[in-house]
Amino acid sequence: MSFNSFGRVFRFTTWGESHGPALGAVVDGCPPGLNLSEADLQPFLDRRRPGQSRFTTQRQEPDQVRILSGVFEGRTTGTPIALHIDNVDQRSKDYSEVAKAYRPGHADYAYDQKYGFRDYRGGGRSSARETAARVAAGGVARLVIPEVTITAWVEAIGGDTIDYANFDATEIGNNPFFCPDPAAAARWEALVDAARKDGSSLGAVVACEATGVPAGWGAPLYAKLDSELASACMSINAVKGFEIGDGFAAAGLRGEENADAMRPTGDGGVDFLANHAGGIAGGIATGQPVRMRVAFKPTSSILIPVETVTRDGEASEIRTKGRHDPCVGIRGVPVVEAMVALVLADQKLLHRAQVG
Ligand SMILES: Cc1cc2nc3c(=O)[nH]c(=O)nc-3n(C[C@H](O)[C@H](O)[C@H](O)COP(=O)(O)O)c2cc1C
Repeated sequence: MSFNSFGRVFRFTTWGESHGPALGAVVDGCPPGLNLSEADLQPFLDRRRPGQSRFTTQRQEPDQVRILSGVFEGRTTGTPIALHIDNVDQRSKDYSEVAKAYRPGHADYAYDQKYGFRDYRGGGRSSARETAARVAAGGVARLVIPEVTITAWVEAIGGDTIDYANFDATEIGNNPFFCPDPAAAARWEALVDAARKDGSSLGAVVACEATGVPAGWGAPLYAKLDSELASACMSINAVKGFEIGDGFAAAGLRGEENADAMRPTGDGGVDFLANHAGGIAGGIATGQPVRMRVAFKPTSSILIPVETVTRDGEASEIRTKGRHDPCVGIRGVPVVEAMVALVLADQKLLHRAQVG
């Protein structure tokens, strides 16, 4: 398996499995001289950490990050930054069923078909434990792009969408759902509880906005900023859809409705009267907020029995016990933010190389 790295100039590689002793990331290409300590990264890991409410998996991982290299006297040296996170709460016996039969929707069958051998404990490398390493690397990326503010939130759970008239960014950290609409957060308590008690799970839509992205970042054609963001977000476990700006809804608009009309500001700048394009045109940032939406499917490890086959090809049924997120999109929020930060840090350094 060689696809464990992402990025061009600002590049990171993750390593580790769900039930191994530890996991982490190596960040290469980070510019020298940036102030960096573990305390800069820990708040991002704390937001993704499991076991913080009954709406996420009850696996208890402190996710304390250690910086093993690339920092001297509190500043990055320009050399690889190795980030290390211990796994402390593995329960491999919960996975005896998964060793024998495939969880429909999870990676078990596909990994066996590809490699012929699989670490079934917690899903091994296919487990979203790996996203802890992305979030740590994303914390480093944010230091490279202080001009950019990245905010993600849950927009919908199980088809129940927030009311944007109630949008309050300060509410995102005030409930277990990263929800900016308190009324929706209250509804979701009952919704996710009911799914959890049924032994089922729910999907979610995560929205993300990056403000302060300067006009000009990005590239035409094969490295369009939108395709880089799509690739980064689609690489997150359980992501099944990605939209920039109005996304699929733009296909239902007329040209004049979809146009982001422009007006001179009078001082040489431009005001956009709308942002259907999500802040990107021709693969290059326009200076407007970069807006995207990411669809997470419902967790495939559920207690409701699902028809499946065993490794030996026998018909079977599987009920996945153990500790699982009833709605993976919730903890997907800090992961989306991290992936967006990692793309934008790379794009900033690429832009410098492209235009001098
Ligand atoms: C933050 C996060 C937590 C997740 N937790 C679980 C989980 O507890 N149980 C599970 O079956 N899948 C979980 N997933 C999803 C699986 O990792 C994912 O479905 C699996 O690797 C198969 O990959 P795919 O869904 O991208 O095809 C989680 C995903 C994310 C982003």
